Amino acid sequence: MSQPSTWEQILDYSNRANPYPFYEELRKTPVTRLPDGSYLVSTYAEIAALLHDPRVSSDIERNPAAAAMRAAAGEDGEGDGPGMTPTFLSMDPPDHDKFRRITMRHFGPPTTPGRVAGMEARMTEIATDLIDNMAARSRIDVVDDLAYPLPVTVICELLGVPPGDEQRFRVWVDVALQSTDPGLDPETQQKKRIEAGKELRAFMEELVDAHRRAPGNDLLSAMVTDDGPEGRMPDEQLVGTGLLLLIAGHETTVNLISNGALTLLRHPAELQRLRDDPGMAIPMVEELLRYEPPVHFVPFRTALDDIDIAGTTIPAGASLTLVLAAGNRDPAHVADPGLFIPDRHNNKHLGFGGGVHLCFGAPLARLEAQIALTAFATRLENPRLVSDPPPYRPSPFLRGPSHLPVDINGVLAPDGPAGDGTVR
Ligand code: HEM
Repeated sequence: MSQPSTWEQILDYSNRANPYPFYEELRKTPVTRLPDGSYLVSTYAEIAALLHDPRVSSDIERNPAAAAMRAAAGEDGEGDGPGMTPTFLSMDPPDHDKFRRITMRHFGPPTTPGRVAGMEARMTEIATDLIDNMAARSRIDVVDDLAYPLPVTVICELLGVPPGDEQRFRVWVDVALQSTDPGLDPETQQKKRIEAGKELRAFMEELVDAHRRAPGNDLLSAMVTDDGPEGRMPDEQLVGTGLLLLIAGHETTVNLISNGALTLLRHPAELQRLRDDPGMAIPMVEELLRYEPPVHFVPFRTALDDIDIAGTTIPAGASLTLVLAAGNRDPAHVADPGLFIPDRHNNKHLGFGGGVHLCFGAPLARLEAQIALTAFATRLENPRLVSDPPPYRPSPFLRGPSHLPVDINGVLAPDGPAGDGTVR
């Protein structure tokens, strides 16, 4: 029997619960050439260098692997996917920088410094309600009952997506993301993705129109009405960026919260520390972004020139995949990389990528995970994992449990054991 290829091993679902031994093998060759002529990069220093290298393009239209996927689906479209407009995620400077700046104007400092911080009380309220809802039960599912509903509610409120619409877009997002798994039966997957992409576009077009007619205080209203010093984005871009924020804004955070709850249950002493000192949530979330990152790799980068790195020349035109999760566990980055040690206070992990595409939503994602995990630690009485490992979602790229059943003895009042300790 022939050895499975490197890419087959990445896709292999049996590696999903623990891909880290495979990543350790992968790091023995920091830059690996795959049979299709693309390259995988797996060591910390090399990934960090390439994330910051202007010779590495994120322009999806230049990428040969993305083009091959589109051709396999018999499709001549362009963009981040069928029916999708390229957004700043898949552009290079200067367009990337301009569209990112225009969007950031309404999301963060210096123009809108209060957007994320202003949601903290609301995030706590949502987390409190979600945990209150677990009171009568002896078994909960961390994914369905906390990790999914918190970020999806937050991003909908932030963007101004009406409650209830989540039921509509959830199905399309599932389809659109499942087929981003490179190598998964390209034809049928891509066709389904075309349909889901069209539905999502139509949905966001409606929202853009509605917010322009009747603006509120939300991010989408600001984007569709404010001209700012650099002008307004074209409608195509507004729709694409709205979808990017909606999807990137929750799919990844779900995994951070679920991976976090799982990691804490596997490390009871750390769970206890968080119970005793909610201030631990900050270093814990940072260490989780290194130890169990929600985004395992960034695909579809293109070398614009020959790049000499780690003794290999990546030729101009080649497609690159940067395996962030392998780089995060590189012993050249941190000592004992396979151990979960929040006291490292390491914020140089690759969990949010790096360089010009460093995650736009990082401040929001961090705060949501800190709030969710603190509520999880302080309010659930005697939480116990039902199965270890839990079942995983199919994607090797946005990796996390599909369900995380946990048995509990009850739910404590929101002020936790330090308060009256009432079990509801
Ligand atoms: C734990 C949660 C999250 C993780 C692990 C994560 C991870 C990442 C990573 C690795 C990138 C870099 C992609 C690349 O280099 O191609 C990225 C970019 C991005 N993320 Fe996040 N993300 C998270 C949450 C969010 C949230 C909440 C939002 C929106 C509010 C968001 C919006 C974006 C956007 C718009 C980009 C593109 C940035 C650019 O190209 O300049 N993300 N994210």
